[in-house]
Amino acid sequence: MILNTLKLINYRNYSKQTVEFCDNINILIGNNAQGKTNILEAVYVLAFTKSHRVVGDTNLIMKNEEFCKINGTITIDNIKSSLEFFLSDNIKKVSIDGVNINKFMDYVSKFKIVIFSPDDLEIIKSSPSIRRKFLNTEISQLDKVYLYNLNDYNKYIKVRNEFLKKMYKKNKSNDLYLSILNEKIIEKAIYIYKKRFEFIEDLNKIISLIYCDITGDKDLSLKYEHKLGINKFNEEKIKKILNKKFEDNYERDMLTFSTNFGPHKDDFSFYLNDNDLKIFGSQGQHRSAVLSLKLSEIEIFKNKIKDTPILLLDDVFSELDDIKKNNIVKYLKNDIQTIITTTDINEISESLIDNAYVYEIFNGKLERKKNDGRKK
Ligand SMILES: Nc1ncnc2c1ncn2[C@@H]1O[C@H](COP(=O)(O)OP(=O)(O)OP(=O)(O)O)[C@@H](O)[C@H]1O
Ligand SMILES: [Mg+2]
Repeated sequence: MILNTLKLINYRNYSKQTVEFCDNINILIGNNAQGKTNILEAVYVLAFTKSHRVVGDTNLIMKNEEFCKINGTITIDNIKSSLEFFLSDNIKKVSIDGVNINKFMDYVSKFKIVIFSPDDLEIIKSSPSIRRKFLNTEISQLDKVYLYNLNDYNKYIKVRNEFLKKMYKKNKSNDLYLSILNEKIIEKAIYIYKKRFEFIEDLNKIISLIYCDITGDKDLSLKYEHKLGINKFNEEKIKKILNKKFEDNYERDMLTFSTNFGPHKDDFSFYLNDNDLKIFGSQGQHRSAVLSLKLSEIEIFKNKIKDTPILLLDDVFSELDDIKKNNIVKYLKNDIQTIITTTDINEISESLIDNAYVYEIFNGKLERKKNDGRKK
């Protein structure tokens, strides 16, 4: 998958900008606050219809303007498509080749992306909801059915919780309706568990190798924390466990108006030699682990969907020592289109700069350099 061209109108600090990307490495250099991350964010928004940085669409539109537009030409299997994202105060819409797509669920996951941004360190450090968001975003890109199931699951959970509240307030019970809802929820939950088991298993096949290549340390692994009490996906077993959990938690669910068990409570952790990285890992270890996670995903994309996503690396090299920087380079020289931002071209290995498109960014304007950014 290739992003050929990106066009921005009134997007953050870009009033009008066109960027041509090459099929391999694209480097965006600029001082702080000039608009590097804004470019990566625009690519992300074009793929997911929302930003990776902020919740809600506030501030995507340039100050004092009424709308913003992102247009991208992408190539998948030699076929070009034009994607467009439009946002104004009261309208948000997306289109593919000029045809409006009403449901965003039908739009996302056409254009596939793996992003590494400084905020991604939160995947290790922050609350389980951040890790679930990561699982959901990434698995949805690999499997659209997952996204539809997840959406249905969340809807049913909401209906169930509201129903519990109603019953509690009326001091009544309607076990038949609740059991119908439980059945629907369990059906969707099984699919979600299945895909999460599979995804984490696939990541575990490669993450340790990549982490070792980058850092020299062995045995990084992910541990899926689902509280099902099983090690492998088994549909029948999970069905039984969920039925039992719903039964056992009935009173608690009723009192809290919430569903206290299910994939919406899932989590996962990073272990380095049996030690939880969240608790004992250094900043650099967190960075290398998350980067290994993202690079592992690329391998999964290649295997599962026979295509490469676009790799967006925001300020990836800062805070890593030279050895690790050099070790990462080998992964970036693969046949994958990459957009890298940096404040300092000297942070980027010379071998990456050869054949790369290098852009300098200053105050919301990009200018292409002829690969001559590096100070000798
Ligand atoms: N809605 C907006 N309208 C106009 N300018 C905006 C808007 N949103 C953000 N900006 C500006 O965009 C700039 C930040 O851009 P960006 O986050 O891309 O910086 P950066 O080059 O990645 O910097 P750093 O190296 O610090 O990460 C800031 O100058 C900010 O004021
Ligand atoms: Mg930035």
